Amino acid sequence: MGNFHLAGYKVLSFDKISSTQTYAHDMVANGTAIDHTAIVAAAQYAGRGRYRRKWVSHHGNLYASFIFRISEREPRLAYAIAVAIAETLISFGTNPQIKWPNDILIDGAKIAGVLIEYAGRFVIVGIGINVHSNPTVAEYKTTKLAKYADVDLTDLFGRLTKNLDKWMTAEFDSVRREWMTLAAGLNRLVKYRGESVELIGINDNGALVVRRGPEYLLIHGDEILM
Ligand code: BTN
Repeated sequence: MGNFHLAGYKVLSFDKISSTQTYAHDMVANGTAIDHTAIVAAAQYAGRGRYRRKWVSHHGNLYASFIFRISEREPRLAYAIAVAIAETLISFGTNPQIKWPNDILIDGAKIAGVLIEYAGRFVIVGIGINVHSNPTVAEYKTTKLAKYADVDLTDLFGRLTKNLDKWMTAEFDSVRREWMTLAAGLNRLVKYRGESVELIGINDNGALVVRRGPEYLLIHGDEILM
């Protein structure tokens, strides 16, 4: 394990731990968490994804959890994080898209995932980016960054932190505009609770806007299928 400071973050780096996300939760629970801490691991043996899925975490990919102190929950954070990851991948010459709210796809296959969890006065943002390997997952196609670019993990992490700082402090209006530019499936039909609806975008409050016939619906934190 090594500790270092990088671009305003206190970074705790591990070779292999259960989960950077779980480690971050433990830090909050035992009072050692401070704002702008990043926990990174070269591999995880109990990586966690959304919906209680596991996140297969072999050596060679990026696994990081960022701890930020917050005064209140901010549902719009998910979009800033997605844009930050997408721009990081764009800087490697790729053409990513964001699948609502914050899966990142390249050529329709998932390359990165985000797990946002609140704990006490903090939000823990877990980010996994497939770099040198991509697991086979039953639910969706996956891909990896090394297929498109030469990538050094430290360089990737550095670019990611810069983009997180940029987009987490940006006005939501510019986050929203960028998110809309990068979003997959806008104006296409998606499934929401078994019905076909047209994906319109996100509004000022970060709700997903869909159209069902003549009516517009706002969706908060539900799953849409595309
Ligand atoms: C998803 O299901 O798309 C979210 C995946 C989040 C994975 C990252 S890897 C770093 C951090 N530690 C974890 O155990 N999960 C997150």
